[in-house]
Amino acid sequence: MSAILVDEASRTWLLSTPGTSYALRLDGDDVPRHLHWGRPLTLAGAVALPVPPPPFVASFDGAFDGDAELPAEGGAMFGLASLQVRFAGGAGGVEWSFVDHAVDDGSLELRFKDRTYPLWITLRYRVYEDSDVLERWVTLRSDVPVSVRRNDSANFALPRLSGYRVSHAVGFWSGENQLRRTALPVGETVFTSRRGITSHQANPWVMIDSGAATEDTGEVWSAALAWSGSWRITMQHSASGRASVSGGFGHEGVSWRLEPGEEWTTPVFAGLYAPDGFGGTSRRWHAYVRAHVLPHPEELRPVLYNSWEATGFAVTEDNQRSLAAVAASLGVEAFVVDDGWFGGRRGDAAGLGDWYPSPVPFPRGLRPLVDEVHRLGMRFGLWVEPEMVNPDSDLYRAHPDWVLHMPGRRRTELRNQLVLNFARPDVAAWAHTWLDRLVADHAIDFLKWDMNRAFTEPGWPGHGDPDRLWIDHVRNVYAVLDSLRRDHPGLRIEACSGGGGRTDLGILARTDQVWTSDNTDPADRLAIQHGHTQLYPAGTMSAWVTDSPNIFTARGTPLRFRFHVAMAGVLGIGANLLHWSAADRAEATTLIAQYQEIRPTVQLGQQYRLASADGTTTAMQYVHDDSVVVLAYRPTTSWGHGQNPLPLAGLDPESSYRDSRTGAVHAGGALLTRGLPLDLPGGDYASTCVRLIRQP
Ligand code: DGJ
Repeated sequence: MSAILVDEASRTWLLSTPGTSYALRLDGDDVPRHLHWGRPLTLAGAVALPVPPPPFVASFDGAFDGDAELPAEGGAMFGLASLQVRFAGGAGGVEWSFVDHAVDDGSLELRFKDRTYPLWITLRYRVYEDSDVLERWVTLRSDVPVSVRRNDSANFALPRLSGYRVSHAVGFWSGENQLRRTALPVGETVFTSRRGITSHQANPWVMIDSGAATEDTGEVWSAALAWSGSWRITMQHSASGRASVSGGFGHEGVSWRLEPGEEWTTPVFAGLYAPDGFGGTSRRWHAYVRAHVLPHPEELRPVLYNSWEATGFAVTEDNQRSLAAVAASLGVEAFVVDDGWFGGRRGDAAGLGDWYPSPVPFPRGLRPLVDEVHRLGMRFGLWVEPEMVNPDSDLYRAHPDWVLHMPGRRRTELRNQLVLNFARPDVAAWAHTWLDRLVADHAIDFLKWDMNRAFTEPGWPGHGDPDRLWIDHVRNVYAVLDSLRRDHPGLRIEACSGGGGRTDLGILARTDQVWTSDNTDPADRLAIQHGHTQLYPAGTMSAWVTDSPNIFTARGTPLRFRFHVAMAGVLGIGANLLHWSAADRAEATTLIAQYQEIRPTVQLGQQYRLASADGTTTAMQYVHDDSVVVLAYRPTTSWGHGQNPLPLAGLDPESSYRDSRTGAVHAGGALLTRGLPLDLPGGDYASTCVRLIRQP
């Protein structure tokens, strides 16, 4: 049960989720201060809590600033300020004055006003009956112009722990979401993107524990930002042993001017406490994403084919028809034509922005191919990159002022392209018009929305508040996606930014899945998928089987291993099927059919990360109703020892489970303790897929 309770006398609020409580209180200066985040509490228990006292009081040390719900500059405040504003005349900071509060069906609003200036600050909270995730965000409104230098969505104070360790995801293009776990140094630690997109380099979430949590045990506090542009998460760790996490949109050096009367809303920075380790933390986030983020959470994602690695920019009606015929014969359900189908696009140097079917490879337009794909029983998907333009394009020749640029500065090209300023209403309207028409005229079922470079020269000449572009670009991308979805209810969308550069809770609220990485090497993918699924569920993780040796790593791997790695998410095929032997096609047909059988368990189930005691074998296990799926991988083999059984998780020890392939029946207790006997073949890149059914 979720509940929001208030004790007016002590000015204490208690927000409870099924498994946790979060409490805050106004201090004597009306500053909202954090009290508790963790195990469930009663209101009486929350009221009885003292606001944590400062460790000692001297003119150099005060209270830990990170205890405030939204630390704002002002007074003797020297820690990180989540809210930084300046008024005309030079006054800065906030002096809090409480106005009132409102509780409405899981939502709490705490309204404040600055004591002197006409600035209203509303702290917003939302809890759900089926999730331990607490959503937090902020709205600002002012009657006078105010410069906003930082406006984080929330600050989460952490309890005093014996130490602080942070888990987070880092990477680079083709190596996204690599999990790192490291002690939090005393001082401030910032994870950020200054690129205009979520980024490949850091993903906007953190998990914090004392250093003692494991996959299955220990308390973990985590937070994730629902935003697809530049962002910043700052952790403070004081020498006196306190810590907090503040997160929001924007990055250092940018500021925005709030116009009188304008309401300014931050994205959600959501927090989660879990008492059962990193595995429990991930499963709660997955359940939250399915219940409260994704637009179509219960819908099974199709097995798709994508042309990119097979035909690159050289797509033609003929080669796509040939690929589509083979794809359909294997059991593929959606066929996606990637880059190269439009304007003068025959490489990455030209054509972006000219969104009509290129007459050379598609002399009859796209419609005959779309019809053929539909006739073959598959959905039709198309790649687009609406936020970009090649200088060598009709669009750029007509509208050179539509891109991000600054007077007197060169326009830096990356991948021969420039960023369209989507913050401009005319640019966003143009994109919406052609996308809407493209989808309607060609009966398109699926879009892959790509974005292939970071912002540079982030200027908006003539605009009085140019840093707005960092925010409004993202808001307008969201608005175009929202309108397309509303007007084309059958349309499904894959988010992509050179792979997983735009993977976050904000984009997942308006797309169906993410292209996880351009790196399709299955061994590298195991690490990337491990990182992706720390926060995001398997049903959001688009994964293709491609050719061997892999184009990035030149590593050769068996087809079965490539399939088993991709089957841990949303299976797709990205290989050149025209080169596959009859034996490859037969094996692929069997594996696709097997995926279709296990798909509800993988895409909708609870996920457990498993590892063998000797560290040679890892596995993803999924449990959904009575169905259990184990995908196990042993990339290298050594010593020639046999494979030990792999202990499973999340099963009922009292139940029996039948292996659907062999018919063998295993006791739940034995599977949990002794383990599942695996039939991994010998040699490197060994893998297996086992499905167990709980017996009535
Ligand atoms: C980057 C994407 O990640 C790839 O899958 C592919 O769509 C290319 N862009 C096309 O230019």
